[in-house]
Amino acid sequence: MDLIVENDYSILKSHYQFTQDDEERLLEMKPFLESSVEDFLTGFYEFIWGFGKTAEFLKNEEILSRHRGKIREWYLDLFNGTYKLSYFQKLYKIGEIHVRLGLPTHYVNAAFNYVRVFTLGRIHKSYNEIEGLTDKLKSVEKILDINLDVLTSSYRQEEVGRFLSLSNVEKTLLSTLKKTSSYFNYLLAGALVMVAFFAVGLFGYDVYLLASGKNSVEEGILTILGSLLILWAAIELIHQEISHLRGGGFALEVFITLAIAALIRKILIFSLSPAKSVDVLMYGVLVLCLSVSYWLITQKLNKKIRG
Ligand code: HEM
Repeated sequence: MDLIVENDYSILKSHYQFTQDDEERLLEMKPFLESSVEDFLTGFYEFIWGFGKTAEFLKNEEILSRHRGKIREWYLDLFNGTYKLSYFQKLYKIGEIHVRLGLPTHYVNAAFNYVRVFTLGRIHKSYNEIEGLTDKLKSVEKILDINLDVLTSSYRQEEVGRFLSLSNVEKTLLSTLKKTSSYFNYLLAGALVMVAFFAVGLFGYDVYLLASGKNSVEEGILTILGSLLILWAAIELIHQEISHLRGGGFALEVFITLAIAALIRKILIFSLSPAKSVDVLMYGVLVLCLSVSYWLITQKLNKKIRG
């Protein structure tokens, strides 16, 4: 457990200059915030649903309604007026559970923005007498920052713990590997841009063959379509590589799309020659196999997202 929580939670409070007065002010506001808790919860889930992958974590109605109950309890506890060791231990446990679930720390930080905006907004609206308003707002800010600090400390612990458990040789190896793989990724991105240029060249060449009469109109149009298909797939790959460089995962399905595009181009060209019927059939079977693989991969991804 985080040292600051385990050894002396009062150090944590003192770093935020969180005093007895803050505790009393928060308790004073409890009845008022209790009356807006349903609005708070409705807005909270609307807000976090905008993160996109929330359903990967709050997978079904049961988990969602359990979480709603826990968030309600956590929110009202903010205004409990007592912030002893057990309070901080509970917060730390929430952080640990989120870490174990693999919930991005960014989600917790962003959710706190909602909590802050909602709560300060409500207080502003109802306590519009000037005296005491600033102090009330300050107390809320402090308890929210303390909460965020403890909730995200499990994330920091995990990162530090994982790194510290490695030997020096492992650490050097790890950072060298990370650097090398990022150089190769940039190299791959450059190569993909080159491929896209070649695909543009191929398109130009196909247009030339059609315009110069070297290809019949039917063949010319089909080959042009085929080269556009490859250009489209190359652009998809570049997009994929960009999101990979930004920290996203590796998407095998995009490479399958490229292979399908290349095979379809061949089929389009060969379909014009009756002598190549067997080749067309073979390529057709290959396209079918790749399409089935594509379908299986995307089905698995969709299932993962829906939980
Ligand atoms: C203000 C931010 C948040 C707070 C205060 C919070 C609070 C909590 C609490 C109190 C629990 C229960 C811990 C326990 O069982 O002891 C919990 C669990 C959980 N939280 Fe959060 N949470 C926050 C944000 C989020 C977000 C943004 C997500 C998802 C996108 C999320 C997903 C979950 C999940 C999946 C569980 C486990 C639920 C279960 O199986 O019971 N939380 N959270």
